[in-house]
Amino acid sequence: MDTEATHVLLVGGTGRFGHQLASALLSRPGIHLHVLVRPGTRPESLDGLADQGVTLVEGSLQDVRSLGSAVEGMDAVISAVRGGPDVVVDGQLRLLDVARRHGVMRFIPSDYSPDFFQLRDGEDAQLDLHRRVADAVERSGVRHTFILCGAFMEVALSPLAHVFDLERGHVAYWGTGDEPFDVTAMRDAARWVAQAVVDPRAAGRRLELVGDVVTVNEVSRLYEELTGRQLQRVCRGTVEDLRHHLARMSAPEAAAREALVQPHLLLQLAGRGRLRNPANAELSRLRPMTVREYLEAKGRPWLPSREEASLPAHP
Ligand SMILES: NC(=O)c1ccc[n+]([C@@H]2O[C@H](COP(=O)([O-])OP(=O)(O)OC[C@H]3O[C@@H](n4cnc5c(N)ncnc54)[C@H](OP(=O)(O)O)[C@@H]3O)[C@@H](O)[C@H]2O)c1
Repeated sequence: MDTEATHVLLVGGTGRFGHQLASALLSRPGIHLHVLVRPGTRPESLDGLADQGVTLVEGSLQDVRSLGSAVEGMDAVISAVRGGPDVVVDGQLRLLDVARRHGVMRFIPSDYSPDFFQLRDGEDAQLDLHRRVADAVERSGVRHTFILCGAFMEVALSPLAHVFDLERGHVAYWGTGDEPFDVTAMRDAARWVAQAVVDPRAAGRRLELVGDVVTVNEVSRLYEELTGRQLQRVCRGTVEDLRHHLARMSAPEAAAREALVQPHLLLQLAGRGRLRNPANAELSRLRPMTVREYLEAKGRPWLPSREEASLPAHP
């Protein structure tokens, strides 16, 4: 093992955000990356990680012994897991305990979300789990960083968030459409995490990092400006109606059913979980992607090409 390098164990590196994190960590000099992979993981889901100088360690959050071997010699542990309470709470607390026993210098739990510290129990079932983990992390004495970045742009602007369906030209919103929300491209969130894990200024912090702040009306105007097409708009109710809707989604039976839905955008449209003290300028000179840039780059299937846009309309 290279004793000069900072050894970072990434748990959840085979997931959607975990992949972005692995790339961001690999591009930072001085970090040696170790990724925990579950037994039976298919080589194709590793996306060539083994060929990029990553140390792959077999293990699972369910298996404390495997965690002990994986954490041995690590300076930092980053989690990007997702799942139910058995993974997010029980699994991550096992990982935290092992990290504490091995004297790990930094622990970053799997958050990457709006500010759940300001929420009350029952407002968002998934973020209740994050807060339970955060409480334990703060009490553990392990040096840690929480990363709060609002909603991922890729999720918030996709049909998964139940507001925008840009492919089909629809938007279904609540309130007036002027309620602001925080969004961050996954790649930027990953680059911030890769910096925070080795930055002493990030230790013991709830770090708020924001790519862009927009409203439903602003995103709709951008779409219309970029495509020349009108979005079909449906108002589903007031902000108060949205709060009732979120409370129903967070009821225990519904929360289990809806576990795959990330209501991070809806939560913010209800005025909850917004990031009030972004540390962007303090932590890094990274210029995050804006929603305009995201729509310009990502929107190819529904944006007319430059050539098409300059063609005269059919008679
Ligand atoms: N702010 C937002 O809008 C937003 C949106 C989406 C996600 N997130 C957050 O981002 C984080 C990652 O989410 P994601 O969508 O990237 O998750 P994902 O694609 O579902 O990946 C989950 C990862 O967790 C691993 N995992 C699950 N159970 C495990 C266990 N028992 N032991 C070890 N590893 C286990 C999976 O491994 P396998 O590959 O072996 O299954 C996979 O690598 C979560 O905190 C999530 O809440 C935020």
